[in-house]
Amino acid sequence: MAEDVLTPDFASYPWTPLERVEFSRHVVVHWADGSALDCHPLWLFENTVAVDPVTREATVDPGDLPPAESLRAAERRADGALVLTWADGRESVAHPGWLRSIAAGEHLPSFVPGPPVVWTAGLGEPPTFDGSHVLDDEAEFEAWLGAMCSFGLARLRRTRADRSLLEELARRIGPVRGSNFGGIFTVEAKLDADSTANTGLNLGQHTDLPTRETPPGFQFLHCVENTVAGGASRMTDGLAVVAELEAHHPAEYGALTTLQWVFANRARDGDHRWIGPIIDHGAPSSPLTLRAFYPVRLAPHMPAEDVERGYSALRVFSRIAHDPRFMIRNRFERGDLVGFDNRRVLHGRDEFDSGGGHRVLMGCYIDRDDVFSRLRVLRRRHEASGSDHPTADHPTRGEQAT
Ligand SMILES: [Fe+2]
Repeated sequence: MAEDVLTPDFASYPWTPLERVEFSRHVVVHWADGSALDCHPLWLFENTVAVDPVTREATVDPGDLPPAESLRAAERRADGALVLTWADGRESVAHPGWLRSIAAGEHLPSFVPGPPVVWTAGLGEPPTFDGSHVLDDEAEFEAWLGAMCSFGLARLRRTRADRSLLEELARRIGPVRGSNFGGIFTVEAKLDADSTANTGLNLGQHTDLPTRETPPGFQFLHCVENTVAGGASRMTDGLAVVAELEAHHPAEYGALTTLQWVFANRARDGDHRWIGPIIDHGAPSSPLTLRAFYPVRLAPHMPAEDVERGYSALRVFSRIAHDPRFMIRNRFERGDLVGFDNRRVLHGRDEFDSGGGHRVLMGCYIDRDDVFSRLRVLRRRHEASGSDHPTADHPTRGEQAT
């Protein structure tokens, strides 16, 4: 029965009985709704016979796997599980719900968080959740993280506005990704600023730390004080910018995705450097990374005759990133906490008068892997309990928010 079938992970799966099993060289399992999965015998061996019951990891080195022909029989058990008989007489069983999850692609990294919701100025406000009890309410926490992963940004309102809250919240998600700004950093206007972030200057739409091989995934900013006039936060979905460039500015899109620039930070005690294009699509399975922070773009790394079109393309990129059709603008209120995908969403800030009050944001980075991992674990628990999700205060508008 279901309880006797080990799966190669710690998730729980609904029991979705197989309708029939075909076996020739491969095993093909079928469900009553017409879906099917083609399974190689060695893959079945690794995930049934060779699973360590404690760690749920595979235990057999590929060099020690038996020949594929050692699978002698594959049959449907009366309860709908898959039973496998091996040449040495061993039997193993595969959970039909686990097989079904593979057939449905639920094991793929992209299944959670799911497809991105691309947005433009019509979004108006970031998806917003009640932050007053987020530390005690797992469902609210999960809903906020889920929206943050789909939209690339989501806000909590009414959080406790003190300097320790962000670290407490970050710890619930995963390890803080340190940088030359430290672990948890403060964004406020200073006389001896080490970054333009710590001035009252306007900051053009950008992504942080293109100086890194892998720039930080998510960025979190928590407003603990804001009594200045101006300084509104601006956000632009990089996915919408890239789509606009690709559709209407193909020459500039080509330049932005292929011409390389050297990025270097200018800290007195740090010297991080990286080379990449502004729109970095990376390897086939990597997410989009925008390397868009002019304060640390050091030099073109391209043939001299390409530099002119490199700058022209940057000008068009900037124009679209600041275009009111694509950008939203929101003031940080005390207690607001915004999380956003630093490699996808461009952020910026209106200038403010640092003599006219205080604007203090606490900030940190957490890598995308850690955010997605926390979301998967919360979803798993939530699905096992069968409770409802809270919804955003600010309604969302389906797949394409405009
Ligand atoms: Fe920034």
